Amino acid sequence: MDTITLYKTNKFKGNIEPPPDKSISHRAIFFSSIANGKSVIHNFLNAADPISTINAFRMLGVDIKQDGNIVTVTGNGLRSLREPNNVIDCGNSGTTIRLISGLLSACTFHSVLTGDDSLRGRPMSRVITPLKMMDAKIDARASGKYPPISITGGKLSPIKYKMPIASAQVKTSIILAALLTEGTTEIEQPIMSRDHTERMLKVYGADLKVDDLKISVTGGKELNATEVFVPGDISSAAFFIAASQIIKGSSIKINNCGLNPTRIGLLEILDKNKMGGEVINYKEKITPELIGSIECKYPKNGLKAVNISEDDIPFLIDEFPIIAVLATQAEGETIITGARELRVKESDRISAMAVELTKMGADIEELPDGMIIRGKTNLKGARVNSHNDHRIAMALSIAALIADGDTIIEGKSAVDISFPEFYPTLERLIK
Ligand code: S3P
Repeated sequence: MDTITLYKTNKFKGNIEPPPDKSISHRAIFFSSIANGKSVIHNFLNAADPISTINAFRMLGVDIKQDGNIVTVTGNGLRSLREPNNVIDCGNSGTTIRLISGLLSACTFHSVLTGDDSLRGRPMSRVITPLKMMDAKIDARASGKYPPISITGGKLSPIKYKMPIASAQVKTSIILAALLTEGTTEIEQPIMSRDHTERMLKVYGADLKVDDLKISVTGGKELNATEVFVPGDISSAAFFIAASQIIKGSSIKINNCGLNPTRIGLLEILDKNKMGGEVINYKEKITPELIGSIECKYPKNGLKAVNISEDDIPFLIDEFPIIAVLATQAEGETIITGARELRVKESDRISAMAVELTKMGADIEELPDGMIIRGKTNLKGARVNSHNDHRIAMALSIAALIADGDTIIEGKSAVDISFPEFYPTLERLIK
């Protein structure tokens, strides 16, 4: 059985380095594969999702050598990919399928993309609609809604596109198509989303300009191979940051962690003046990203409830499951709204967290676009399920560390998607 049993701890101490950033690892493979020359990626995330991206580019004829966390990609330019001789399986990875849809729309061959049960239920019209506006010949199951996606790539036209939702996957998909499209494509975002693509592509030499929420990309310019240093993933560190705020006597330090301003929403809501956490970060600019360390201590005065609304969501989109756990330990009513996107992640994260935390005794009301969590509640051990979603498995595991009695997590190996070393790391901090 794919389960783990966890119970209450009275120790949570130590230093950790989070696993490498998932978003940056994917992008490093994408951009290096269409650049000219040999790129070396250091501290690559050797986990299921980025491996789906490596496998996809190998099927497209790119020479990729992996030695643990060091990956060498030899790219032959924007137009060097070749037709895959089979369906490309993107596994569980929304980033792989959405980003590659944009790129393959501009490559003159036929390709078919699919994924696991979860991915085949995730919306694809968000990328298909703008790509069709660029004249892409792309379609998908259920009238263009779900994978498998089929593409007959060809010459695209530049567009001006106002994105209806804030999504880094959608903007990157259009940017990848635009890199291979003559003329200038303009994209306008409703709210800022993670900007790793924009930062990294400048290093690869792309002709890309950013003006606040507007991005313009002029296609046809070849990219140059480069060296990429992937920082630790703050979305993985988030589980330990949160644990330190709810386990009495905790004290941890997180080193080499990405602190990109578009990713630190959790640190901002844990601020003394908001939830009242004890979390300090020290940033250093290591171009093109900000990285640094985070020191976390159990806050003696406890946590307070917080309101999180639509404008905050992109900065903490992947942290929602663990924020739900934090909110069960905060005094008062935490109200999260404007987060409808969470229903179409690797699982319906609103429903999954409401159902599972309720089993543990939390007081939660599900909203169509978020939830209300009334704290503080004493959690009790229960048999809970990860819904095959890595972030749900990790959030419930942290909840288990403060619950009375045993908690059995079903589907624990979901963590392999982004953090295969999650349980050994956790064990080190509680021993
Ligand atoms: C990601 C963007 C986000 C995030 C996902 C990774 C990326 O998704 O939730 O885990 O690497 O671009 P959306 O673009 O759908 O918000």
